[in-house]
Amino acid sequence: MSIKSSRILCAAVAGVWLALAACSGGDNIGAAGSTIRIGEFASLTGKEAAFGQSSHKGTQLAIDEINAAGGLLGKQIEFIYEDNRSTPGESATIAKKLITRDKVVALLGEVASGRSLEAAPIAQSNGIPMISPSSTNPKVTETGDYIFRVCFTDPFQGKLLAEFARKSLKAGKAAVFSDVSAPYSMGLAQYFREPFAASGGQIVSEQKYTGGDKDFKAQLTAIKATRPDVIFVPGYYTDAGLIVAQARQLGITVPLFGGDGWEAPELLQIAGSALEGTYYSTHFSAENSDPKVQQFVAAFRAKYNGETPDAMAALGYDSAMVLADAIRRAGTTEGAKLRDAIAATSGYQGVTGKTTLDAARNATKPAVVITVRDGQFKYLETVNP
Ligand code: PHE
Repeated sequence: MSIKSSRILCAAVAGVWLALAACSGGDNIGAAGSTIRIGEFASLTGKEAAFGQSSHKGTQLAIDEINAAGGLLGKQIEFIYEDNRSTPGESATIAKKLITRDKVVALLGEVASGRSLEAAPIAQSNGIPMISPSSTNPKVTETGDYIFRVCFTDPFQGKLLAEFARKSLKAGKAAVFSDVSAPYSMGLAQYFREPFAASGGQIVSEQKYTGGDKDFKAQLTAIKATRPDVIFVPGYYTDAGLIVAQARQLGITVPLFGGDGWEAPELLQIAGSALEGTYYSTHFSAENSDPKVQQFVAAFRAKYNGETPDAMAALGYDSAMVLADAIRRAGTTEGAKLRDAIAATSGYQGVTGKTTLDAARNATKPAVVITVRDGQFKYLETVNP
């Protein structure tokens, strides 16, 4: 695990004893000191590094912009983030450290629902608000009244994918191939299955894998035998990329599609031309002509060597902006008051649309459907809630 930001600064001045007091001094902490500390836990390395890196870059851009504009409540934000290496069991430990050692006033994270679910009980029991940028599983915010998200949830995503399969892909029979190790995947499979069947579709095959598996041919062969019209793969890009490639190798020609877990430029590197004619739903398209979106896209490209922001980057950015907006309205970073201010977020105009948090601390937002054509991700349509 790497500890960034203030810790590096402290290490750099460790030889200067006078400066040490400024790094670890009792009153120079959290909001009581000269800065406001915001913590982030992210998958910066490991299996889903693309998620953490993107989300982190968006979050960092927001924090930089806020600081450049004078900070919050007359203080600069000190952004302290730590890598969970995409590994189970790390996020709760990191959340504990950020809260008790670093005295952060709020937590931002994670992309993957499974890791948000690990940290959320820690934030809740410490009375420290946590905002997940992009975890879509309903259970994340059900953890308690300190846990929020700025994205849509999987019951919405599953339903729109079921409708997309039924209407746009004209599918009568679907196979579902999900990841037993990811709460996100199991949840999204369920939220797809129900509306697909309710609208007259038939699930002809249900197969399972474990995230990180490399050979999916046995399950894909079983799926092929049931002759589905489409194959739904509610998983993450690393596995989904291999699944798509192996499906095509086995001569499966029907469309495969997934949810936001597919979103990563790496998907194209993993599956290449096998991805042609596949689809996935996500939260954001950089092709959106909204001036606010284009301003964000330009700022992101300028900061990160021309890289185009994806959904995780956009939601990471909005998560920090929604938190900042709440800190301003609260006029304090005290846990309960900040919690109330976040809960009162209404019509906040960000780069992923308007964020209004409902009584269950979730946002309701449109989704976009992306397809792969000529080796590139292409915006297909927007689905409104
Ligand atoms: N929604 C996914 C989850 O809950 C994470 C994700 C968000 C992946 C956005 C890609 C883009 O685990």
